[in-house]
Amino acid sequence: SEKTTEQAATTKPFSFKLLKTEGMARRGEITTPHGKVRTPAFMPVGTQATVKAMYPQQVRDLGADVVLGNTYHLMLRPTAERIAKLGGLHKFMGWDHTILTDSGGFQVMSLSGLRKMTEEGVTFSSHHDGSKHFMSPERSVEIQGLLGSDIQMQLDECIALPAERSEVERAMQLSLRWAERSRNQFESMGGPQKGQGLYGIVQGGDVPDLRIESAQRLGELPMEGYSVGGLAVGEPQAVMLKMLEITTPAMPNDKPRYLMGVGTPEDILESVARGIDQFDCVMPTRAGRHGLAYTRFGKVNLKNARHSEDPRPLDEESQCEAASKYSRAYLHHLVRVNEGLGAMLLTWNNLAYYQYLMQGIRDAIDEGRFEEFRQQTKEDWARGDL
Ligand code: GUN
Repeated sequence: SEKTTEQAATTKPFSFKLLKTEGMARRGEITTPHGKVRTPAFMPVGTQATVKAMYPQQVRDLGADVVLGNTYHLMLRPTAERIAKLGGLHKFMGWDHTILTDSGGFQVMSLSGLRKMTEEGVTFSSHHDGSKHFMSPERSVEIQGLLGSDIQMQLDECIALPAERSEVERAMQLSLRWAERSRNQFESMGGPQKGQGLYGIVQGGDVPDLRIESAQRLGELPMEGYSVGGLAVGEPQAVMLKMLEITTPAMPNDKPRYLMGVGTPEDILESVARGIDQFDCVMPTRAGRHGLAYTRFGKVNLKNARHSEDPRPLDEESQCEAASKYSRAYLHHLVRVNEGLGAMLLTWNNLAYYQYLMQGIRDAIDEGRFEEFRQQTKEDWARGDL
């Protein structure tokens, strides 16, 4: 039809530009059908079509170019078909910028009840009502297409650590076969023509040669980007960073690299230094709902009685009102009486701090002073909140 021709002529392909590097750290820009993503990027988690306790415009104003949605949750409620019928996930949640969706592989393992893994896919029971569902690599990509996700993830199997090498290898090889099936489905749905991207996911646990094999074999598949999965699943931080040092050099240089589910501000800073471009984590949003604030000088637990009469804001120099306008005594009170505004203000503060950190990282790489920025930032955290 005429419309299809017009779309084909106007839809820019998914792309990644590497703008600058310093050591392994990279400054880049991803282009998707919903705009540009400045990297290194932190992607706030919007599991159920909402970044909890935040208005979409607030998330945007803090500098987020992309939010994350979850296939697993949305397929169960309200279902991908319903969201598609209502015009797609962007319209449904009022977010007109880039959306990345996770495939469901990780959430099935961490949230669902009974599950059975076969070569074909995974059968699981819903954590809501125990109802049975089936997810295959094809079905996961089909759902992500129905949602209209700009950056889609292959279905993979992520296992908890510690684990036997044989178990790590089995899940890694299965994930590689599922990558190829996910790719075929993505192409048959016209993802590339729509300017969308599909990322493969590196697995391999804490076994160096399996990580390298996974990265190299995945790199032979024509994906728009590559993720590192299966980390921050129970191993010490030093093991995670060692795995990144081994893995990123084996990944394509000209495609974005996304470290899934990570992490603390320190994890992010150290992972950028090892070649990672994209991050997502529930930490700033979840911690905000539990009374924990992230600041330039580390974490502040507002539940603690020592804040009960403290008139100072979290950070008077912050551009974010949640950090600069309200006293610690007031935030402490809101958290203690479990008021919704406490969760809203602390989530706002935390996402503001995460985006401030990412902007600092991007500026530093742009200006060739990332190493200096890294040392200074770690010194500030070490000073602690006084
Ligand atoms: N989120 C955090 N880790 C993972 C992973 O290994 N796989 C997927 N699909 N999502 C994740």
